[in-house]
Amino acid sequence: MQTLIINIKELLQVRESPIIKVSGAEMAVLPTIKNAFLLLEDTIIVDFGVMENCPKINPELTIDATGKMVLPSWCDSHTHIVYAGNREQEFVDRINGLSYEEIANRGGGILNSAKKLHETSEDEIYNESKVRLEEIMSLGTGAVEIKSGYGLTVEDELKMLRVIKRLNQNYPITIKATFLGAHAFPNEFKDNHQGYIDLICKEMIHKIAEENLAKYIDVFCETGYFSVSETEAILKSGLEYGLIPKIHVNQFHSIGGVQVGVKHKALSVDHLEIMNKEDLESLKNSETMPVALPSCSYFLSIPYTPAREMIDCGLSIALASDFNPGSSPSGNMNFVVATACIKMKMTPEEAINAATINGAYAMGISKTHGSITKGKKANLIITKPISSYYQLPYAFGSNLIDCIILEGKIIL
Ligand code: NIG
Ligand code: FE
Repeated sequence: MQTLIINIKELLQVRESPIIKVSGAEMAVLPTIKNAFLLLEDTIIVDFGVMENCPKINPELTIDATGKMVLPSWCDSHTHIVYAGNREQEFVDRINGLSYEEIANRGGGILNSAKKLHETSEDEIYNESKVRLEEIMSLGTGAVEIKSGYGLTVEDELKMLRVIKRLNQNYPITIKATFLGAHAFPNEFKDNHQGYIDLICKEMIHKIAEENLAKYIDVFCETGYFSVSETEAILKSGLEYGLIPKIHVNQFHSIGGVQVGVKHKALSVDHLEIMNKEDLESLKNSETMPVALPSCSYFLSIPYTPAREMIDCGLSIALASDFNPGSSPSGNMNFVVATACIKMKMTPEEAINAATINGAYAMGISKTHGSITKGKKANLIITKPISSYYQLPYAFGSNLIDCIILEGKIIL
């Protein structure tokens, strides 16, 4: 089936050669074609160019995009959208003065979500999670990474990962699964860290690899959660089973998590709200993608990742939503892009690169996603008529999406 999109006011993120990420000064460049056409065949982008060169064909479907922009779907490389219930009471507790850490220390936080997940059936978790998945698809996300990490027992971690697998089978959005058994220590292992690490390394990882339920492994490396040496032990066990690291680091403290991620060739290190010089240095010349999560900074009122400084010293940045019930109950990548511009002083070009091609890199899928390139997936956003792509971050809070195409099919 051929679909031809014509009269596109501006086609964004056009990459003739298949680059896999952009770094430093390259991030300021967003290649575009004005007055463009785009041709899709089945699930793939097969041609694009200026309207003068539009092929004279008779496709099954023609979409007139006069006045509209077309860009690749958002690539959200860090979410926890499979969960049960919500944590709105903790939200109000924080308004009334408690901190995220104080709430966690009195048994709330991640352990609160783990309790709810334990009490909820797999089908019910699926039904709750698919609503969130459908919502982010309608907001322009075409590829998403989803983590486990609210199970914290063998059975409940597997339950979460099976839900992720089922979502992947039933929806046209691309989904990559990450095992995050090392999200928090369950109460029964509070004074026996090694016992829980053994459970992760000797049981969970083995079962997950056997059922092929995850591609990546994550650890919350943070004061009060997993230490640097505990993180390293877990990453090493995962790597033995082919699970590639993608880790939570430097959300509240800089304790060496970035360095351990780079050492073990993590695909990404995520959060990075608190960064010192050594952290920045260790990322230079590495293959590891730094990922910023501005919705989490916004929601918890914690510092934003110093993206400006990072880009100015030549690093890459990807942007992701961190959609989860505790620190970012929103998966809206349009808001993420706007907040990166407004609060982190990223330019619109940098933010769009960070939320497309670099987000794809942070999921290991930038050969197939994240840009308008022949042979890549036909996952697209068509905007409403807008004056320029600056509108995307400028008119934050407005929904500027007119149409969503995933795998070559119109879904909205
Ligand atoms: O990325 N920081 C660790 N994990 C999540 C939040 C988990 C939660 O509060 O439920 C995050 O922010
Ligand atoms: Fe997270």
